[in-house]
Amino acid sequence: MSAGAQSRKRVAALISGRGSNMLSLMAAAQHKDYPADIALVFSNKPDAPGLATAKQAGIATAALHHKDFATREDFERAMQDILLAHKIDLVCLAGFMRLLTPWFVEQWAGRMINIHPAILPSYKGLHTHERALADGVKLHGATVHFVVPEMDAGPIIAQAAVPVVDGDTPETLGARVLAQEHIIYPLALRLVASGQARIEGQKVLTGETSNVNALAVPAP
Ligand code: GRF
Repeated sequence: MSAGAQSRKRVAALISGRGSNMLSLMAAAQHKDYPADIALVFSNKPDAPGLATAKQAGIATAALHHKDFATREDFERAMQDILLAHKIDLVCLAGFMRLLTPWFVEQWAGRMINIHPAILPSYKGLHTHERALADGVKLHGATVHFVVPEMDAGPIIAQAAVPVVDGDTPETLGARVLAQEHIIYPLALRLVASGQARIEGQKVLTGETSNVNALAVPAP
């Protein structure tokens, strides 16, 4: 199915750091059949390296330092004004290191997705690679999910699994996971932007006859 320019969803990528997931979304959006455009990259850190990357690629950028606001919601209301000014349809959290209030999450209910570096519901929160290694799990991975008020919860759109091998460090395991993040985030955004992903209770149905998430990669 081809996505005409008119039907392409306007996406804002929200970042706090290097923005490698943002880049994977930008690369996917280069394809004429992809149903989304990265219309804005926003950061809560004006010096986030990803902002400069996006600017160089000619994408609109904006930044507000959260420390300049008295409350979390004041910051979010200013961020929301920017998103509305750019006529954003969908929000992709891509390494956005701010907890969001229920107010903001409600504004984007069903229209905001996040990538988390673990196979949810295991390993919510930070330091996922360290914790997976400490537990001795044999599979680890990444998840893209709709955002709900509870952190790292919400209906799951796509997941990828990678093997954990002897000698792995948080860095080697993290790099293996990140390579999969760069595959599943564009895939999940395509499902959402095209309307193919439908939330039913806690689940996301896509109508796929094969499981696009069965991506376990071979050990290195
Ligand atoms: C990724 O590991 C992502 O899963 C997590 O934050 C990291 C962001 O990395 N939410 P990048 O800025 O996209 O390179």
